[in-house]
Amino acid sequence: MIIEEKEFLLKNGKNVTIGSPKYEDAEELAIHYRKVAQETLFLINDLEDGEKTVEDELTYIKKMEDSPNSFSVAAKIGEKVVGLANISGRGKFRVKHRCEIGISIQKAYWGLGIGTILMQVLVEQAKRMGLEQMELAVHDGNTSAINLYKKFGFLDAGWMPNCFKYKDGSYAGLFRMYKDLKGEENE
Ligand SMILES: CC(C)(COP(=O)(O)OP(=O)(O)OC[C@H]1O[C@@H](n2cnc3c(N)ncnc32)[C@H](O)[C@@H]1OP(=O)(O)O)[C@@H](O)C(=O)NCCC(=O)NCCS
Repeated sequence: MIIEEKEFLLKNGKNVTIGSPKYEDAEELAIHYRKVAQETLFLINDLEDGEKTVEDELTYIKKMEDSPNSFSVAAKIGEKVVGLANISGRGKFRVKHRCEIGISIQKAYWGLGIGTILMQVLVEQAKRMGLEQMELAVHDGNTSAINLYKKFGFLDAGWMPNCFKYKDGSYAGLFRMYKDLKGEENE
């Protein structure tokens, strides 16, 4: 599923372009993957698992375009991808009303409102796709993300210990959160 690019004003007075990633963004997406993996321990991505190639990203963009139950949206400053968010739907009949979401923004662009814009787009798109419940997992120390999700009405659905294990041997737990879209108006 594709959405056209649209400009939004950020808190620093600059514009961000929000839209479905295009084939020409593949290299930028690979750079984004590497950057956020390096910059934060809050994501599951670790460079121990390898990096994404341009080829991987081209495959990802095509998959997102073709899939009826998945969706991806990029945030770009100029031609540079600085953020990415996605919806991963489920195929099986009894769970296809639910989806998992993910969001990542490069550190230099935190706190400018990009997370809020991407989340707005995800919620609107999930409704358009007829989804009834958005779900996610968030590192229990990730205050910024938890605040963002609460701002959009996500509720706590429980905590699981020892979900991430880091190179120094320490562990972190994850909260599951969900947003019920039933009864919310479509935009
Ligand atoms: C979490 C993340 C997506 C937030 O994106 P962002 O663009 O910085 O968020 P915004 O500027 O739109 O702020 C959205 C809300 O997040 C919360 N927030 C943002 N920065 C915060 C901070 N430093 N401390 C506390 N809350 C914060 C606030 O509730 C804020 O709403 P407000 O501006 O109305 O107060 C971003 O920091 C990120 O990508 N982090 C690394 C990857 C990650 O953790 N992804 C989430 C995995 S579950």
